Amino acid sequence: MKVLVLGSGAGGGCPQWNCNCAMCAAARNGSRLIRPRTQSSIAISPDGQRWVLLNASPDIGQQLRVQPALHPKHGLRDSPIKAVVLMDAQIDHATGLLSLREGPPIELYVTPCVFEDLTTGLPILTVLDHYCGVHWHMLPVAGEQRVAEFSVDGFETLRFRAVAIPGKAPPYSPHRHDPKVGDNIALEVTDRMTGKRLFYAPGLADVGDVELEWMRDADCLLVDGTFWTEDEMVQAGLGSKFAADMGHLPQSGSPQRGGMMDALDRTGAHRKLLIHINNSNPILDDYGTERAELARRGIEVAHDGMEIVL
Ligand code: MLT
Ligand code: MN
Ligand code: ZN
Repeated sequence: MKVLVLGSGAGGGCPQWNCNCAMCAAARNGSRLIRPRTQSSIAISPDGQRWVLLNASPDIGQQLRVQPALHPKHGLRDSPIKAVVLMDAQIDHATGLLSLREGPPIELYVTPCVFEDLTTGLPILTVLDHYCGVHWHMLPVAGEQRVAEFSVDGFETLRFRAVAIPGKAPPYSPHRHDPKVGDNIALEVTDRMTGKRLFYAPGLADVGDVELEWMRDADCLLVDGTFWTEDEMVQAGLGSKFAADMGHLPQSGSPQRGGMMDALDRTGAHRKLLIHINNSNPILDDYGTERAELARRGIEVAHDGMEIVL
């Protein structure tokens, strides 16, 4: 299985258009080694020919333009992207669908909660019905059902499992303060030919025993790298929200709860990568002390264009 990181940043990317925080400013003026990052999305493929998109970022146009593996190959109009799976209905993960409107109907795999948000509060799917149209494949993660195994048409060598995880529905959603099973999923993808297993959770509010079990011994983890500290946005003067308010477990944790680094230490996974990194996060500095701390623990930071072969 091949994994391409199309976008490794959180909402806004880095540098963010209107942000002059220490990291965004340094990314612009080059005073620290901070790579530009677009908004969070990856593509996976069993053979390097046909790809499934996991999340569709508003930066998708740029992401596909710079990625030869995803260019049209056959005939006048074509794309190696055959299907899209969304982890949630957040703007940074879903609005890229609008930029796929010139193609055939989108083969879209989402939970009922995400479908509802994307046909009401942010009615992207309804709008797309007037362009390419959308074929909804329902991922039955809802109510009592917290796990759904499925396959993506044309990708039978990959086994997908969607799992409900702790998180937040988008700010515009009626579920924002009333979490529902299916607002946020993580995806486990297993290559049936090699047995290799990817676990992808770009938004993850907590790692409890259940999540730890899913992450245990994975060949590759790509998980929530949004914030280094719980109060990062507040400390930087960028807002009033804490990591927990936004549904993200920070790397360093807090006195109340352990962080993502501790959780990753306990997984025994072969490769551990952070993705969906907010532009306020000091791990963006390739030579910063926080990055060194991650390296000491065997944790990598995903970057745009990164290729992972499992
Ligand atoms: C998040 O990850 O918390 C959201 O994408 C924030 C946003 O919509 O900008
Ligand atoms: Mn986000
Ligand atoms: Zn910033």
